[in-house]
Amino acid sequence: MSDYLRIRGGRPLNGHVSVSGSKNAAVAIIPAAILADSPCTIENLPDIDDVYCYRDILSFLGADVEFAKGVMRIDPRGINKNELPQELVGRMRASYYLVPTLMGRLGSAHVPLPGGCDIGNRPIDQTIKGLTSLGARVDTDGGIINAVRGDNYGGNEVFLAMPSVGATINTMLAAVHAPGRTVIHNAAKEPHIVDTANFLSSMGARVKGAGTDIIRIDGGHPLHGSNYAVIPDQIETGTLMIAAAASRGDVTLHGTIPTHMESLTAKLLEMGVYVTDEDDIIRVRASGTLRPISLKTQVYPGFPTDLQQPLTAMLTTAWGTSYVTETIFESRFRYVDELRRMGAEIKVLESTAIVSGVEKLHPANVTATDLRAGAAMIVAALMADGVSNIGGIQYILRGYEHIDEKLRSLGGEVEYV
Ligand code: EPU
Repeated sequence: MSDYLRIRGGRPLNGHVSVSGSKNAAVAIIPAAILADSPCTIENLPDIDDVYCYRDILSFLGADVEFAKGVMRIDPRGINKNELPQELVGRMRASYYLVPTLMGRLGSAHVPLPGGCDIGNRPIDQTIKGLTSLGARVDTDGGIINAVRGDNYGGNEVFLAMPSVGATINTMLAAVHAPGRTVIHNAAKEPHIVDTANFLSSMGARVKGAGTDIIRIDGGHPLHGSNYAVIPDQIETGTLMIAAAASRGDVTLHGTIPTHMESLTAKLLEMGVYVTDEDDIIRVRASGTLRPISLKTQVYPGFPTDLQQPLTAMLTTAWGTSYVTETIFESRFRYVDELRRMGAEIKVLESTAIVSGVEKLHPANVTATDLRAGAAMIVAALMADGVSNIGGIQYILRGYEHIDEKLRSLGGEVEYV
C-alpha cells in the first residue's frame, strides 16, 4: 500500500488521455443489477476502490461476481442475505443504494448508515421519504437502515424537498419494483441519474423523464439481466481539464461527453483557457496568466460541487480575486488550509472562499481531506515548482482510476510512493 502521491510540479501537461467510466454511475448501477432475475454484465467500470468495495459486498450477500478489466459480471440469483456488516459498507456513501435493491430482492434490508467523504452534514431524510412514500417501513435504529416492504407497497407521488442525487436514485430503485406508477418530483438531473435510469430500462423497467425534474416510473415489472456500459466520468473529465489548464498545458481528452462539461467549460473560457470539443473529444490549452472568476456550485446542469475543490486550487494563481460559493456541502472548504500551506491566499467567509491570486504556489507535504480535496491537492502540486507529497491517498484511490499513470502519460512526474 502506498503512503503518498508524490508530484514534481511546475511543468505543463501535454498529450492525449482517455477518461474512465463514471464512479457515481457505477456505484448506483452495480447495486441495481441485483434486481435482475438473470446475470448482468456491466462494462466501462472504473478500477477504483468503491467498485472493489461493491464487488466484495455483493459476493458477501451471495451473488456470483467477477470483475476484471473494467467489466463486472453479476449473477444475483444466489443472494440470500439482507444484512450487511459495518466493515463492508463503512468505506463508502453509495452503500445505501442496497437498501431499495435488497428490499426488492428479498423483501427487507438492513444496511448500516452510509460512510463516504466527510464534506458536511449528509442526511438521508429524503431517501427515507422516498421509500416510505411507496409504503416501505423504514427506521434507522442502532445506526442501521432497516427497511421492509409493507403490505401496501406500491407506486406513489414523491416530492423531494431538494433535488438530492442519492434520494432520486434510491427512489427510482425502489419504484421499479413497486407495482403501479411512481412520480418523483424535484428529481436530481445529474448525468449518473440518467445513466442509472437507462440501465434500469435496459433491464426491462419503465422509467421516463430522467434528466428532467419529473421522473415517472411504472413499477412492478420483472427485470432481466442486461449488458450495459457506464458513461464517462464527468468529474474525472473535469479534474483532468482543470489539471491541464492549471499546468498551462495542452491536453486532449478522449471518450468524454462534452455536454456534461458545459458549466466547467464556460468557467474555463471565462478565465482565458482555450477549450474546444468535437464528438467525444475535448482539447484544453492554457498559457500565461489566467483571469479570476466568480463561481457558485449548483445542482446539474449548474457547476458541480465535486469540481469546486480542484477549480479553487487553480484559481489560487489567477491574476486577481476570485469568489467561490459552495451551496451544496457546507464543509467542502476544509482543504483550503492545505492550499494555504502551499502559499495560497484564501479567506473563507461563511460559504464563500475569497481567493486572492498569487504568482506561484510552492511545493509542500499536504493531506487530502476527502476525495475531491485530493483532486485539489493534485492540481496545486502540478502548479508548484518542486516536489509535493500528498497524503490521504485512500480518498484518491476511492474515485480516480490510475490517476498517477494518466498524469505520467501526459508528461507529469507523478507516482504513488
Ligand atoms: N440532502 C438532504 N437530505 C437528503 C439528501 C440530501 O438534506 O436526504 C442534502 C445534502 O445535505 C446536500 C444536498 O442535499 O446538501 C445534496 O446531496 P445529494 O443527496 O445530492 O448528494 P449525495 O447523493 O450524497 C452525490 C455524489 C456526490 C456529489 C453529490 C452532489 C454519489 C455517490 N455521490 O452525493 O459525490 O457531491 O451527489 O452532486 O453519487 C464525490 O463524488 O466526491 C461526491 C461526494
